[in-house]
Amino acid sequence: MGEKRILCIGLVCLDIISVVDKYPEEDSDTRCLSQRWQRGGNASNTCTVLSLLGAPCSFMGSLAPGHIADFIISDFFKRNIDASNVSWQTWGDSPCACCLVNTRTGSRTVTLYDTNLPDVTADDFQKVDLTQHRWIHWEGRNADEQIKMIQKVEDYNKSSAPEQRVTISVEIEKEREELFQLFQHGDVVFVSKDVARYLGYNSAADAVVGLYPRVQKGAYLVCAWADKGADALGPDGCIIHSSSFPPETIVDTLGAGDTFNASVIYALSNGKTLQEALTFGCRIAGKKCGLQGYDGIVS
Ligand code: ADP
Ligand code: FRU
Repeated sequence: MGEKRILCIGLVCLDIISVVDKYPEEDSDTRCLSQRWQRGGNASNTCTVLSLLGAPCSFMGSLAPGHIADFIISDFFKRNIDASNVSWQTWGDSPCACCLVNTRTGSRTVTLYDTNLPDVTADDFQKVDLTQHRWIHWEGRNADEQIKMIQKVEDYNKSSAPEQRVTISVEIEKEREELFQLFQHGDVVFVSKDVARYLGYNSAADAVVGLYPRVQKGAYLVCAWADKGADALGPDGCIIHSSSFPPETIVDTLGAGDTFNASVIYALSNGKTLQEALTFGCRIAGKKCGLQGYDGIVS
């Protein structure tokens, strides 16, 4: 058997990216510097970065057959990401986002058409062969179903030898109450600055301390905070911090958080400490902010 994979479950969409050097006025007609199509979605971007870092990985999410899905599937193939667990829906459109990347400020403005394709269910998850995976990462979406999937992995872990166990991570990125039940699941929990702010915290350090009582015993809680870097807390109670690594020029922050998550997962899954993983996450995410897209993040 080859090296076990890291599986990421969540959104895949088509990002139609226009690169601008000035954010357009509403109802204006302007030219952009360049335009490209890119496979997007948090879990899908996390796979892109894991694959570039050299980790065998797979993606699981929903798609509807059509032009968007054709583009996405060929891009998964190009990036050496296994897409055999994609859940094919028989109706609806694949999600698509209009993304404006401002090269002057580094801002990314996303308008996602999340087409309400049914998300992956616990039933779909039955087909995943857990013996082939060493880590499974869930981007918080349909939390009730996702918890059922996580419980299946927890049961599998209870009956497996330590070296066969699957590490579980979750990302709580959107300010949706339904997602907050995911805090108590997972060996590693990523909480975004948007959720941290929504819950009343004004820094990553305050967030990891304040939210730590919500996570399960022994878990790591990680919070990235754009140019402020990231903080994390584990069971020993020591707050870990990494500063950010800003590139010479910030050109594209689209997917910086997904890059950070992938790099932290990669480092931890290779036995690095929480401090090493956090620093690596910020270093690779910083590199990404200096590049359009992801090519060149490892060099
Ligand atoms: P997102 O908004 O994409 O979810 P974050 O803003 O939380 O992501 O950033 C994730 C990581 O990316 C940060 O911890 C940092 O390391 C890096 N990063 C993001 N924005 C910048 C920036 N402007 N300068 C340097 N690093 C950045
Ligand atoms: C970046 C991203 C984009 C996508 C959007 C969805 O984090 O995943 O690729 O368009 O967020 O919210």
